[in-house]
Order: sequence, then C-alpha cells, then structure tokens
Amino acid sequence: MGNCLRVSIFLVLCIFIQSSTSGRSLEPELIGRRSRAVETKKSLQETETRFLLFKDETNKGCQIWLNHPDTLWECGFNSSLPLVVIIHGWSVDGMLESWVWQMAAALKSRTAQPVNVGLADWITLAYRHYTIAVRNTRIVGQEVAAFLRWLEVTAQFSRSNVHLIGYSLGAHVSGFAGSYIGGKHKIGRITGLDAAGPLFEGTSPSDRLSPDDANFVDAIHTFTQEHMGLSVGIKQPVGHYDFYPNGGSFQPGCHFLELYKHIAQHGLNAISQTIKCAHERSVHLFIDSLLHDHMQSMAYQCSDMDSFSQGLCLSCKKGRCNTLGYHIRQERHSKSKKLFLVTRAQSPFKVYHYQFKIQFINQIEKPVEPTFTMSLLGTKEERQKIPITLGEGIISNKTYSFLITLDLDIGELIMIRFKWENSAVWANIWNTVQTIIPWGTKPHYSGLVLKTIRVKAGETQQRMTFCSEITDDLQLHPTQEKTFVKCEVNSKKSKRKIR
Ligand SMILES: *[C@@H]1O[C@H](CO)[C@@H](O)[C@H](O)[C@H]1NC(C)=O
Ligand SMILES: *[C@@H]1O[C@H](CO)[C@@H](O)[C@H](O)[C@H]1NC(C)=O
Repeated sequence: MGNCLRVSIFLVLCIFIQSSTSGRSLEPELIGRRSRAVETKKSLQETETRFLLFKDETNKGCQIWLNHPDTLWECGFNSSLPLVVIIHGWSVDGMLESWVWQMAAALKSRTAQPVNVGLADWITLAYRHYTIAVRNTRIVGQEVAAFLRWLEVTAQFSRSNVHLIGYSLGAHVSGFAGSYIGGKHKIGRITGLDAAGPLFEGTSPSDRLSPDDANFVDAIHTFTQEHMGLSVGIKQPVGHYDFYPNGGSFQPGCHFLELYKHIAQHGLNAISQTIKCAHERSVHLFIDSLLHDHMQSMAYQCSDMDSFSQGLCLSCKKGRCNTLGYHIRQERHSKSKKLFLVTRAQSPFKVYHYQFKIQFINQIEKPVEPTFTMSLLGTKEERQKIPITLGEGIISNKTYSFLITLDLDIGELIMIRFKWENSAVWANIWNTVQTIIPWGTKPHYSGLVLKTIRVKAGETQQRMTFCSEITDDLQLHPTQEKTFVKCEVNSKKSKRKIR
C-alpha cells in the first residue's frame, strides 16, 4: 500500500541529497569563493538580505534600510526591548514559507513580555541550487552581523539582547553571524531549528552552527533520518543544549500514510510537504512553546533514544532536564547536552513521561511472553488500557524498565490496574502449565508473580511504589486484572521487622 507514493517521496529526497552529494566534489571551489566573499567589503546599501520588522501580529513586515536609520523607528523598533530575528532556510520555490509568519505572530502575541520581532529575508540567495545556497549562508551571516553592528552604532542596541532563530540553513547563517560579528561580546542567544545536515555534518565548529557562536545556543533536531549516508537535519550536537524529540530522526504524524490527509490539505505540494513535515516540526515545536505557556515540554539528558525508551533517563538532577523551546533555562556547559523527549503528533505537543519498573518472578520453566495492559488512575484523570510489550520473554526473576507517555495530565498517580490480556496462544499454554503445576495447593510463589511496580514521573520528579491490593495472592493469571495501590516499600524493611 502506498508503494508508489513511497517511491516518489524517495525520489524527491534523492534530489535533495544528490544536490548535496554533488557539492562534495565542488569543495575546493567552495573554499575559493568563501575567501573571496570575506575579502569583499560590501557597503550597507548593497546587502542582499532584507531586514524586516513586524509591528504587530498581523503585520507582513516593515523594511529597515540601513542607509536610512529613520526606518528603524518608523518600523516600530523599541530599543528597550530584546530583538528576536527569524532566519529562514533553503528555498525550493523562491517563496517564504508560511511558518515564518506563524513564528512572527507567535512572538508578537506575547504581550506580557514584548520583544522586537525581525526577519532576515535572504530568499534571493536561498532560492538556489543547494550547494550554492550553502555557500551563501556565510555571506548572509556576514550581512546579519553587519546589521547587528549597525544597530549598536545607530540605536546603542547591544548584541547581547539579540536572539537569532534560524531554521535549516538559517541555523548556520545564525552561526556565521555569531562568528563574524567580532569584538569582545557575543550575540545573546541562537536557536537552531533542525539545522541543515548536508555539507555541515562533521565539519569543524567554525564551518557550522556551534556553541561558540552566542552566549547561549540551543538546537532542536527533528529529521536526522539517514538516506545514503546523509540526513536533511544535522545529527551531531551543535549547541549547549541539543533536543532530539522522539529520537530526532523522524516525527510522529509525518508518516507516508498521512500523505492522504496532506494531499487534501496541500494538493500537489503534498509530497514536498511530507518531506518537510519532520524537518519543519522543529519550528512548530518552538512556536508551540510560545503559544502554550502552561504546556511546556520537558526533555531529559540521555545518551540515546534506546535508553530513553527504557525510561532510564528521567532525571532532573544537576541540570539534566530542561524546557524545550523559547523558555529554556539558559545554562552553559563546556560540553553539549543531548536531551530527549516524546511529543504528540500535533500541537499541543507536550506529553507526560513516566518510567515504570516492574519486578516479575517467573517460576515456570518456559519463558513467558504475554501482553499486558495498564490502566492508570490519577487524582485528575484516568487512562485506560495502555498496552505494554516487554520485547523479550519473562525468564525467572527480572525487573523490566520502560517509558510510558501520556498526552494528558492525570494528576498524581494513585492506582494501577494491571491486566494480562487474553491471547489464544497463551491461554492454551497456560492450561498446559496448569495441569503440570497444581495451583490448588497454592505455594507462595508459583507461576507468574508481579511483585511491585515502581514509577517515576519525569515532569514532577516524583517516585512511587505500587503493591498488589490483595497481598495473599500475588500470582497473575491470563485475562486477570490486578489492582495495585501505593505502598511504602522504602521503609518496608524496618516495618517488616517490626511485624
Ligand atoms: C518600549 O518598551 C518599553 C518597555 O516595555 C515601554 O515602556 C515603552 O513604552 C516602549 N516604547 C515605545 C515607544 O513603545
Ligand atoms: C526468584 O525469586 C523467588 C522469590 O524471591 C525465589 O524463591 C527464587 O529462588 C528466585 N529464582 C531465581 C531463579 O532467582
């Protein structure tokens, strides 16, 4: 199903990637052009980049002319407020993408914390063959740096009050602006939204966005899935904090099967929209953080998505967790921190992360591979029948750790109902086992026993332990549902001794 679509999407991806691989052979020429560009001292009037300011949410932008400083005030610049500059990426059609206006409106909508919102429009240099657009990122970076120096002279506006938000190639433009600006002080903040990968991955920090480019650099990686050794978004960390939503390689809701919905929405553009979906998700995650103050997504430091999926990384100790997006806690470290999180497929993207640790005792000779569901009852809400697959059979005594995410806030977890779902195969095997082991005599631990469920909530950092409500029958049967309530296991050792 959808094979044909799959092929067409792959072809479009190949075009994107081809344009980047063919660039590899152009490398010497690329370097030659770079040095020439550096030598060229452009006068302010000649910049190819247009600088626009947005007066309000509905404004389409007001152009600032560097040789007419009055335009700065005419466009509503307020030098006592910070400046956020949006920098777009590579263009395949010569048009600014609609997210630019959405981002500007989202920034402008925050009337409690107003900011100047600007756009560095370099579309004429971005609407080129990918390798040429890559080359142009340095030139545009220089122009943005020159603009910020001009602001310092013209409006006594400090670069430390500047936040550049760059998407795709725009992320590297921001990086170059930060390195070309010179002087003792750095730009305040740079946010790289799925910074482009081809021709940047693995290059030295001075040839791409890097933590040196601003006082604080954060990056969101959303489309680093590899095709023929290259990915659209850069994989390596490029900031002080690097976020990898859903592992960073691909995003929920962007699958090919969703294409039908996209065709209805975007007509013939559907294929390129589908490709952009995961790449552009970085932008929408950021916009989401501006629009939903009370739904800020938390991310946690982890080595990789595998460990994260086992729920092993939900710690906030020593700055190991942070907020994704505009409201990030700005802390610098010598080494990039890689943070992971799960998101929903659409806005609001926030989910609540939980680690579940379940201790099984299996006294059956054979490994047991059942499917379970868990119903979670919280003080605010309830979530029914969350399926759990442990990935491997339960052999003798083992503790399983896994991540469960909920897209609503259930409040504090107070009860868990654990069910061994009916499966024809397992019911059969169980019946066979039943005839071998006489349950009737009820030895203390026989068959499959679930002792405790330990839970850690990422968002609240709360740890809880749940024990079976019925303490004299710990055994679990197929199709049976058992209720677990909070119990004090940490202090249990001393209590047990007393009893
Ligand atoms: C500039 O911003 C400051 C701080 O929000 C505000 O008090 C002032 O009125 C603004 N100036 C103009 C001209 O809007
Ligand atoms: C599993 O745990 C039970 C109860 O704690 C114990 O009796 C049994 O010997 C353990 N089995 C293995 C293989 O460790």
